[in-house]
Amino acid sequence: MIDLQGKRVGLYGGTFDPFHNAHRQLIESALAQFPLDIILVMPLGQPSHKTRRISLAAHRFEMARIGVEKLTRVIVSDDEIRTLGVDYTYKTVLRLKEQHRPLEVMILVGSDVLLSIDSWYRVADLMNEVALGVVRRGDDDIDTLHDIAKKTTARYGAKIAFFDMPTSTLSSSDIRCFLEHNGRLSGQCPTSVESFIESHRLYALSPVYSLINNDDWERLIAFEGWGWRFISQKRRVHSASVAQYAANLASIYKVNIAKAMACGLLHDIAKELPIEEQKALADNYFDDDTILSSFSDELLHGPAAAQLVSTMIKEQDTEFLDAIAFHSTGCGDMSVLGKILFLSDKIAFDRSFKRLEPIRALAEDGKIDDAMKLCLEEVFLALERDGVELNPYSLHAYRACAGNTH
Ligand SMILES: [Fe+2]
Ligand SMILES: [Fe+2]
Repeated sequence: MIDLQGKRVGLYGGTFDPFHNAHRQLIESALAQFPLDIILVMPLGQPSHKTRRISLAAHRFEMARIGVEKLTRVIVSDDEIRTLGVDYTYKTVLRLKEQHRPLEVMILVGSDVLLSIDSWYRVADLMNEVALGVVRRGDDDIDTLHDIAKKTTARYGAKIAFFDMPTSTLSSSDIRCFLEHNGRLSGQCPTSVESFIESHRLYALSPVYSLINNDDWERLIAFEGWGWRFISQKRRVHSASVAQYAANLASIYKVNIAKAMACGLLHDIAKELPIEEQKALADNYFDDDTILSSFSDELLHGPAAAQLVSTMIKEQDTEFLDAIAFHSTGCGDMSVLGKILFLSDKIAFDRSFKRLEPIRALAEDGKIDDAMKLCLEEVFLALERDGVELNPYSLHAYRACAGNTH
């Protein structure tokens, strides 16, 4: 729980897709020039006025989290991500005040925001609740800015203060465009963010999102928001990476891309529940008790997640639920969707183990059964090394996939 009671809080919201050096500079400048006790960096959940597909929340939250590392008096908050549906700054501020009772809240914005302030949701009420810290960049027309600030103060009673930061030409959209075309970053983002983007191939893999229709995309965002509370940030990043890789495999194998992504986002949501709870959920998932008896404790979270998904979000698609239930073990009659999830869980770009590249190459080359066979061989080797018994369903999966290869 963050302690903000009686503190002067700066609130800095954005999509942070990606979080880059100008974001970090803005935070540092505000801390240096305003008497703020703390700055809350808040990645937006579902932006209210953007139509492009933004990166998954777990990836954006992670970039902001590692992007502010070593800055004191800065916290990254997931409040807006946890709030399902479109959220507005006004509501975020009310929630913040009610939950944390800060002394005052100052919203930190770029000068461009001042130009569009009339279109903000309940702007007059918002201005009543907060002060506005407007950053002034070297290339801004200062007279125009001050003129608008005067009018905004007269119209809404806004309390506006300016702060300065060095001129910067960085923009998230330029960085994304550059990365989608396989450029290499060099100094546009904090180093940790750059290596995160590169190792996860974040923007090289995201063009597939544009193939998903609006309704399905909104459902996916809602799934991610709903699952957020169940798992740690590390597992959220894993799930988002699995979802992203699964989406790319789905586009290769002509499988429903949104469904593959949903599988990825939800496959591990039961993994951090107490084992007794996992057992009870998994038990409800299978009609036949003999299936569950072959699942060790580590494997229960698959069927447990399937049961959780089926009851909480009323999803009854068996192919979808079975893909989740058998994502760790595989099984004898796997659908292509099931194989996509099984593979993505092992070879998405958050993973790094030896001999991973040949499996990826097969999977991306349309040879899904060969990829499954090789991946299962790796799993068997690892289990043998650790002295763990083979699950019979994995053996069934292996035989079925080996039978399909040439
Ligand atoms: Fe898992
Ligand atoms: Fe997983």
